[in-house]
Amino acid sequence: MATRKILERGDEALTKRCRPVTQFDRRLHDLLDDMRETLALANGYGLAAPQVGILRRVCLVTASDGSVLELVNPEIVETEGEQIGYEGCLSVPGLYGVVKRPQRVKVRAQDRNGKTFEAEDVGMSARCFCHETEHLDGHLFTELADGGRLYTEEELDAIQAEQEKKNKGGKHRKGE
Ligand code: NI
Repeated sequence: MATRKILERGDEALTKRCRPVTQFDRRLHDLLDDMRETLALANGYGLAAPQVGILRRVCLVTASDGSVLELVNPEIVETEGEQIGYEGCLSVPGLYGVVKRPQRVKVRAQDRNGKTFEAEDVGMSARCFCHETEHLDGHLFTELADGGRLYTEEELDAIQAEQEKKNKGGKHRKGE
């Protein structure tokens, strides 16, 4: 196993539509193993093959239970609800945008041996299913960010501190 270099916004590889995987061979397994190690080192939530310069429909998504799912030729087959929140990307370091996503997402994909399976998840993992499959079509979250506005980590910290102050200010909160 080895880590691979993560490409950043501006690199052409991140704008390409990736080709389906047709051979579930050693080469694919090496790619998946390397992507796992790269994701762990970067402390990320998900990673798509084009981010390491491989234009194939392969990605990793961290599930709600903490396990890392390997998705080959993934397709979103069902979505439900809505969530609005901050989103970032290892290829856009230090910048975040507000992106609307479904709350629940079901994907159909193949595993590293070509066996088809389905996975369903909510919250951050649902967000990640959408984000990673979009990478495979050459799209970045920055295209979906509300108002095209991106925030730095400092701006994000300031916004969160402001929100916490507001929450403390309310004496009676519903549902408590
Ligand atoms: Ni990304």
